[in-house]
Formats: sequence, structure tokens, C-alpha cells
Amino acid sequence: MKSQQLRQLLDSLSLDEKIGQLVQLSGEFYQAQNIATGPQKSLGITQNMVDLSGSVLNVTGAEQVKRVQEEHLKKGKHPIPLLFMADIIYGYHTVYPIPLGIGATWDPKLVEEAYHNTADEASASGVDVTFAPMLDLVRDPRWGRVLESTGEDAMLNSHFARAMVNGLQKDLPNGRGLAACIKHFAGYGAAEGGREYNSADISLPNLKQNYLPAYRAAVDAGAKMVMASLSTLNGVPGTGDQWLIDDMLRKQWGFDGVVISDYASIQELVDHGFAQDREDAARLAITAGVDIDMKSPCYANGLEQLLNKGRISEEKINQAVWRVLSLKNDLGLFENPFRGASIERESHSILSSDKRAVARKMSQEAIVLLKNEDEILPLAKQSNKKIAVIGPYADEADLIGLWAVHADRHDTVTLADGIKEKLNDSYYSISKGTDILRDKKFFDQFGTAEESVKRSISSNEEEMKQRQKSLKNAAKSDIIIFACGEHPLQSSEAGSRVLLRLPQNQVDLFNELVELQKPIITIVFSGRPLVLTDLVSKSSALVQAWFPGTEGGHALADILFGDYNPSGRLSMSMPYIEGQLPMHYDHLSTGRSEETSQHNSRFVSRYVDSPSKPLFPFGFGLSYGELVYSKLVIERSQLKLGETVESYVTINNIGNYNRYEVVQIYFHDDVASVAQPVKRLVDFKRVFIKAGETKQVKFSIPINQLGFYDRKGNYQLEPGTFTFFAGSDSMAMLSEQIELIQ
Ligand code: BGC
Repeated sequence: MKSQQLRQLLDSLSLDEKIGQLVQLSGEFYQAQNIATGPQKSLGITQNMVDLSGSVLNVTGAEQVKRVQEEHLKKGKHPIPLLFMADIIYGYHTVYPIPLGIGATWDPKLVEEAYHNTADEASASGVDVTFAPMLDLVRDPRWGRVLESTGEDAMLNSHFARAMVNGLQKDLPNGRGLAACIKHFAGYGAAEGGREYNSADISLPNLKQNYLPAYRAAVDAGAKMVMASLSTLNGVPGTGDQWLIDDMLRKQWGFDGVVISDYASIQELVDHGFAQDREDAARLAITAGVDIDMKSPCYANGLEQLLNKGRISEEKINQAVWRVLSLKNDLGLFENPFRGASIERESHSILSSDKRAVARKMSQEAIVLLKNEDEILPLAKQSNKKIAVIGPYADEADLIGLWAVHADRHDTVTLADGIKEKLNDSYYSISKGTDILRDKKFFDQFGTAEESVKRSISSNEEEMKQRQKSLKNAAKSDIIIFACGEHPLQSSEAGSRVLLRLPQNQVDLFNELVELQKPIITIVFSGRPLVLTDLVSKSSALVQAWFPGTEGGHALADILFGDYNPSGRLSMSMPYIEGQLPMHYDHLSTGRSEETSQHNSRFVSRYVDSPSKPLFPFGFGLSYGELVYSKLVIERSQLKLGETVESYVTINNIGNYNRYEVVQIYFHDDVASVAQPVKRLVDFKRVFIKAGETKQVKFSIPINQLGFYDRKGNYQLEPGTFTFFAGSDSMAMLSEQIELIQ
């Protein structure tokens, strides 16, 4: 539809019809299958508002979407198609590793391809918009939603943000793309204490330096929608933050797309003590610039009254409706309200072999090898050594994490499936050993149905049998693969934890296995970095698998048996112990740094009962073989504003394996008017290097990227010296200095 026609349509709408466009409801309002992603309350809105609503939450499937759309178009004076929005965070039916695993790939190109595939699958099922990517920077793994983030670094997150948006929206014009709704704007990742839905307090320089860049990158890449955060930032709830939404996002960044609230978050403005009542909440949200009210009655019941009382202008409503109609128009819904929805397309697209192949590649790249003593890995496919695969994840299909809400875990390749394809039957055994979690109280707190609790927790007798079987298998074996991890319910939304350990029943089994004094290769499945300190010291090898997705079992077996040389590098620090949290590699140095302070050992910045360093730092990961960083060269040591730092890093693969290496460049602004992080990632390259090969990896870094934000939030780049570091993780030690002169 031409812009002028769209304007005419807007002008012809009644107030009710306009308000309807700003209301989003979930499936049950349309007699459609519904996935609950928030508290279920009756909304108390009129049937008329339901009939006029503009968008739907989490209703998918070509047949269902078509039916709902067809019925909707019969209602109302002006048939305006519904927008179908859904949470498709890291894959639709073909599920990739959780975003924290995606972060560990350091491979934005592959991520773009994967999200392009996701858009193809989900658009075939009638989805128009996905509530992804989540771009919240994270520093505290107690927060369950670290699962949804690509990690703790602003620059790395920005690369992934662009890649995800580009992949999702690439085919938007021809009906096979998805509009990206980036979330949760902004600062939700800094929820205090890592407690879900808690407030965040972030200084202006920190916000601009760390928390906003990924959003900015996604907006610049053309993301069509933004979701406001349901948390508060510096005391102001995201849903009512005019400074963030109207001033920063729209006016300064030039975002002209749709802003949506989070689930019920407009009405929660009352609970925050920020709004008087629901009508006031509607006023605050629409004034801040929130266009769509997701699952709350505030806009449906409040906007007309506010208008009649003169507390908001009709222009404000018109602007919001215009943005919603424009999105529908950009997606071509007025010409074809069903867009890509097609049962035929679904059958070709969903879980196709090429999509599975990309998922397998992504899982391979996401998995991080953290320890490999005496090069126990890779295992030989043909050897007379007997392998016992033991643990609750040995043959578990739930490898997709809690946020893959549209996928079916039965489509997953388990670890056992993967191993079976590599080995001859006689050389291995598989046994569960114990349940993932045997704490009934844990399940009860979510009101989990008795039947599914029974499915998760075996009887004591069955548990005993499992344990004995696995110990017997272990005794007969030469090598143990211990597949353990947290329960999917322990991470993701509303999955905050204070103790980031394996469930005790798994620890007990592990310790019994340790007593057998056989080499143990431990594989950890989790939605977050866990505290693995004890596990690491008692294992010969340790593999961090995350929730690796549909093809996880294949990817793990590829790594265990050397068909893929692990290349994953942590995008989030792994704590030594929970008491260190929050932690991040790019912290400021203190006046009494542990390493460089002249004070005697008591009066330095450290803990008296624990190391202050992480167990594994940001950027860390092992590969098979050995590689050395031999040289960092910077072409010119004095530069002026606007110039580029040209540098070369020389790496030598002195091992016997071909591999990928993620060459990482960090810098430190040596003296600045605001103290600067000890190191900040400024560039990286993922390069393939053959056994025996030497490579020079070139970096061109615009000097203007080395600036920082001052206390007023202004970007500054001050003359002086900067130290660059090159290496394989954030402890990178090769260094060179440059000087920025005026
Ligand atoms: C989550 C969002 C999600 C929304 C809709 C909320 O509870 O915070 O991330 O997109 O539900 O399902």
C-alpha cells in the first residue's frame, strides 16, 4: 500500500479501531493454542477490543495462523490484518545452542546464516515478528536470563546483534523474513543480585559504554521493533522511560519503528509505584513512546478516558498507530495477510537437512573445551579402550533449554545418539546413573503437575538401580564420560539461582566415579556458567556444552572423537565461586590492585578466602594441539585523530591439528580523565590455521574507537598512550604501546 493510502486508512479509523491496533493479546483470546510466557490473569477488556486488537502473541503454525487471521479479518469495519509475534529466540524447530553458546562461537557470519534459516522456518509457520535478539549485556550468571545473552562484552554483543538482525530481516520483503524486536531496552541484564525482574542501577558512562552499544548496532542494522524493559533503570521503569525511548532511541538514534511493552509491564507500572493506577500507567507508557501494550488492559481500557480528560493528545495515539500500520504495510500484510504462512513451506523448511547442518556447525563452534589434561581428547574411534557414558544427560533429549518454546525436544540428537554413530557397539555403554534433579520442592514451587514431577524424579528403587548400573559400567570401562548439568528449569526467565552448582545427587554420583580413579571427561550442560571449580580439578577433561540445541549430540560426538577441533571461546567469565559475582573482565583497576600494588599483601583488592580471578576468563577456550602467539607489531607508534591503528599478530600452529583460532585484540587507555577498564576488547578474527602453519593476522582499528564516555555521558578521546594486547583470551599478554597526539 502506498504511504498516502495508509494515511487515508489511519484517518478513516474510529478511536476504538485505533486503540485496538495498540493492543496485543495471546492465543486464548483467539481460541488458538497458547504458550504461556508470563503470569496468566484475566485481562478484563471488552469483546469489542479483542475483535479490534492489532497483534497476537505466540500463536504459530501455518494452519492456525491462517484460521485466526481469516476470522479476524471478518470483524471490524476496516479489515486490518493481525501481526503475529512470537518468542523465537535461538531457533524455531531447528534449535541452535542457547545465545550464551552462540556468543562462544565468535562467528557472526555463521550466526547470520542461522538466524536467516530461523526466519525461513518461522515465517512458513505464519510468524511476522520475533521477540529477538535479546541484547542485554550480562555480568552475573545468577540471573537465569544470561542464557539469552551473547555475553559480557559490548563490542562482541554488537557484532552478534547486527548478525542476528540481518539474518532475520534479510528476506523480509519477500515474506520469508521475520521482523526483529530487540529487547529488553535497557539495562535489564544488570538486575541487582542477579534476581529476576529486579532493578538495575547503572551509571551513565557504564550504560553508554557497555549496555547500549548492542542496541545501537541493531537499530543501525534496521531492526523493526524494540521491546521496553519491564525492569527499572536508575529508578525509572523501562516501560515509562521517556528519556530512553523518546529522547534517546527515537530522537537521537533515529529509530522510527514500533516500540512494544514487555508482558503486562504497563500495568506493572502501578506495582513499581511509578503510576497511580492503570489509566495513569497507560498515560506514562504512551507518553514515553510505547506503541503496543502487550497483555495488559491499560491501553484497551485507559486511552480513551485519557483523551477525553485531555491528559494525552489524539496525535500521540495517531503516531503510535501509524507506526504499527507502517510495520504491517512494510511486511506486505495488506496485500497478503497470510504472508509466508504455508503448510507446504513448513513441510520443506522445518528441520530440513540443510538447516540441521547449520545447527550442527553452530553447536560445534559453541562448545568450549575448558580442560584437556594429557591430551586425553580427542578419543580414538578405533581403540580397545572401553568407554562408559554416564550421567543424566547421557541420553537426554532436553538439550534445547527452556526458551525454545516452539520446538519439540524429540527432534534432538542426544549425546548417546551422537556417540553411537562414531563407535562400534562393543566399546561403550550408556547409563543415566541418576536423575537431573531429585528435589521435589523445586518442581512444586512452579506448581508442576504431579505426573511430570513423577517423570522427572525416579522412585528411590529405580534411582538406586540406575546408580548401581552406572557404577558397574564405570568399573568395566577405561574412560568415563560424565554427562551432567543443571535442569532446564533452573535457568532462563525466572530461573535465578544463588548457588551455581550441579544438583547434589549428580555431585554424589560424580564423587563415586572419581573414587574409581579412571580418567573422567566431564561434559556440562547448562544455561549459564556454573561454578565448576571442584569438577574441573577432579576431571581429566571438561567440556562446556551449554544447552547445545537440536544437533547437540552430533556436535559433541564430533568434538569428542576429533571430527571437529573445538574452537569455542567463553563470552562470559566463569566464576571460581558465587561470592565473586558479578564479575567481568573489563573491570577498572583499583588503587590497590592485587598484581601491581606496592602495599603489603593484606591491604590489596582481593578476597581473603578465595581467589579474585575467575576460574576461566572471558575469551578462554582450548583447541586440540598447540598454538603460540609470537609477535604483535603495530606499524606506527604515533597517530592522530581519524587515523587507523594497523597491526599484525603472528601465530604459529606448532601442534598436529588443523584448527580455528580466535585472535583477540584488547586495549587499555593508560591515563584518562575517567579511569578506564584494565582491558577492553577492540577487535577479533576467527582464522583457520593448518598444523605447522604460521600466519600473520592483520587488524585495522580506527583510533576513534578507543574513546570513552565521561560522567556527563559525552564521548571523549583524549591524547596520550594506549596499550594494545594480543592473545587467545582476555589475559592476553603480548603488548605494544601507541600514542595519540594532537
Ligand atoms: C519476557 C519477554 C518475552 C515476553 C513475551 C516476557 O515475560 O520478558 O522476553 O518476549 O514475555 O513472551
